[in-house]
Amino acid sequence: MRPALRFAVALVLGLALLTWAASVVVMRTTRAWFERDMQLRAELAVSGAREALVAHWGRESDLRRALVELTHDERVLGAAACGTDLGLRARTIEYPAPLSCGRLGADVRPGEDFPAEAWRAWSSVFSVPGGQVHATAVPVISGEQPIGFVVLVHDLSFVERREATTRRFLVMAFGFLALAAAVTTLIAARLSWRGWSNELRRLIRGERPRPEFRPFLRDVRDLVERLAAEREADGLGGLWTPQRLKNTLSRHLHGERVVIVAHREPYVHERASDGQVTLVHPASGLVTALEPVMRACSGTWVAHGSGSADAEAADKNGRLLVPPGEESYVLRRVWLSPEEEKGFYYGLSNEGLWPLCHIAHTRPVFRSEDWRHYQEVNRKFADAVRQEVDSDDPIILVQDYHFALLPRMIRERLPRATVITFWHIPWPNSERFGICPWRDEILTGLLGSSILGFHAQVHCNNFIDGVDRFLESRIDREQNAVVHQGQWTLVRPYPISIEWPSGWLRDVPPVAQCRASVFAELGLAPDALLGVGVDRLDYTKGIEERMLAVERLLERSPSLRGRFSFVQLAAPSRTAIPEYQKLNETVAAVAARINQRFSSGGYRAVILKRAHHEPPTVFRYYRAADLCYVSSLHDGMNLVAKEFIAARDDEQGVLVLSHFTGAARELTEALSVNPYDLDEASAALVAALLMPRDEQRDRMRAMRALVAEFNVYRWAGRMLVDAARLRRRERLSGRLSRHLPDSASFAE
Ligand code: G6P
Repeated sequence: MRPALRFAVALVLGLALLTWAASVVVMRTTRAWFERDMQLRAELAVSGAREALVAHWGRESDLRRALVELTHDERVLGAAACGTDLGLRARTIEYPAPLSCGRLGADVRPGEDFPAEAWRAWSSVFSVPGGQVHATAVPVISGEQPIGFVVLVHDLSFVERREATTRRFLVMAFGFLALAAAVTTLIAARLSWRGWSNELRRLIRGERPRPEFRPFLRDVRDLVERLAAEREADGLGGLWTPQRLKNTLSRHLHGERVVIVAHREPYVHERASDGQVTLVHPASGLVTALEPVMRACSGTWVAHGSGSADAEAADKNGRLLVPPGEESYVLRRVWLSPEEEKGFYYGLSNEGLWPLCHIAHTRPVFRSEDWRHYQEVNRKFADAVRQEVDSDDPIILVQDYHFALLPRMIRERLPRATVITFWHIPWPNSERFGICPWRDEILTGLLGSSILGFHAQVHCNNFIDGVDRFLESRIDREQNAVVHQGQWTLVRPYPISIEWPSGWLRDVPPVAQCRASVFAELGLAPDALLGVGVDRLDYTKGIEERMLAVERLLERSPSLRGRFSFVQLAAPSRTAIPEYQKLNETVAAVAARINQRFSSGGYRAVILKRAHHEPPTVFRYYRAADLCYVSSLHDGMNLVAKEFIAARDDEQGVLVLSHFTGAARELTEALSVNPYDLDEASAALVAALLMPRDEQRDRMRAMRALVAEFNVYRWAGRMLVDAARLRRRERLSGRLSRHLPDSASFAE
């Protein structure tokens, strides 16, 4: 049976039951009213005839006449007069004989006399031959004394007739009601089902549903999306690849091109001293992660054109196609004046925000002129973005602490844009963040984003706490979202990663060959043991602590002296900043001191290579080493750790990893250390050097499986899928147009 019909049948049955119950209640009530009415009439009649009754009480014939007077009402069957001794004094002819005085008296006061003070009328229903009668006994008082009582008997058949009529009406009324309710239910159910299916159809067609349907449809949509995501994961074996990312983009975002804004460009054209232009791949975790994503997605990367030959390599608008030889996306270079670079990049970004966000004990410096440049450069990039988009609702990925103001500036220029911002470094707690003179502006700027991503939940929490503390806003903790000036920003963790398999491995020789070539380069004996560190020369990386741990190792393990060397590839970074210059000198001095202590003959304990190294060289070193030590004092993620794992397809080599990196949360098979604790760190280095090959393999295999699965395509894919979901919601709520461009061309 169809549900609506089932409901109607249940409704009819329910109403039938209700009719029966109602008729019982109504009958009982009306019967009680009738009986009460008859008793009152009898009392009135007897009281009216009281004088005549008293006067004739002793003479039967006169008394009967007085009784006959009382029976003129057609409903009164008969009357009788009874004495206090319950003996009959007189009765009319119609009076039912079975109703003796004794029976009436016994009904009320069995076996008792009738004391004057207790006298009052009483009534009852009796069965007599021919049906039921109602008898009322009314006392007759003479002076103060009762002399007996008069019984008036009413015919009940008229009451029964009325009851039957009432019952009939009741049944008819309720029956009609039941029928009307059932028909109305069926019609309403049909109409709302039709409305519901129409709304679902509108939703599927991408139209806006009516407001009353939105809560239901939101749930339906979530469910469908979850199922689709699960199916997608099942169908593709769970691994994210460039192709899958591309498919995701075309399936969820109609193949839209993305625009990435990051300060650092993926390819830098530098003119060397010999006049030759070389292409440099900068040392930047951000570039490592995003470049493969851009190759997969196409679109435009807007960046600072920082290379000395960058302008010549680009067209007059600062654009060029990259990567060289495999052109798949546009690099749009934005030019900065030396003052802008000083204030925006070196100043506020790297002397202010960088130390503010990292717990590495370097004081942030906040200068108002740096802030002015920071604002100007963010504005400049916002204008560049405006020029690069090809629709009024583009997807823009804003990267890192250089562009905290950009999300809001983009929103002002393109109110319907989907802005995904990713903060690649830690976000400090609010006590720490509160020292920034422009904390409110920075928070407000970031809250122009549709989605704001961090590596870890703890950084999301810190950000939300900061907003809570410093801004007027609404925080939706269930959704992890902030609503500020009517704009929603979802705050989510998206731990970043690297491409898998790494593209650099294509050109890097097998492990044994790498080991041989690196050992030869470094002048190491074939049985030497080698540790490697790869970083920008940055105080957050704990390079000094790393060298001190090597020193402690050599102090504690004399057998490793002359045998174990640690090579540090240190790319000079932000060299215009005094703190970085100081670090450069300190690291060189520490390396020299350790070497002085332990080196002998051709042996060097620490080999410090302060220079930029291109990725193939870095990968050769990863492959040559017995261990890699990542000793960051504080790091959002640290992709060196993941690159080392990607390089080791021989499943050998040990990763020693600082607790204070985001990577340590994922790479639990690494030897985890506190880089400040030199005893612990040096013991971990020794353990790494002594680790049996089987154990190395087990650990490396597990970490490789994890990085393979949680690769950078997944990172980008998850953000884009979330963005797509958001866009669908916004489109449904009317913020975006229904029609998105199928193909796009870059604005001139
Ligand atoms: C960190 C930052 C990146 C930056 C990289 C290199 O990883 O999060 O945004 O690109 O350092 O620093 P640099 O100043 O040379 O770009």
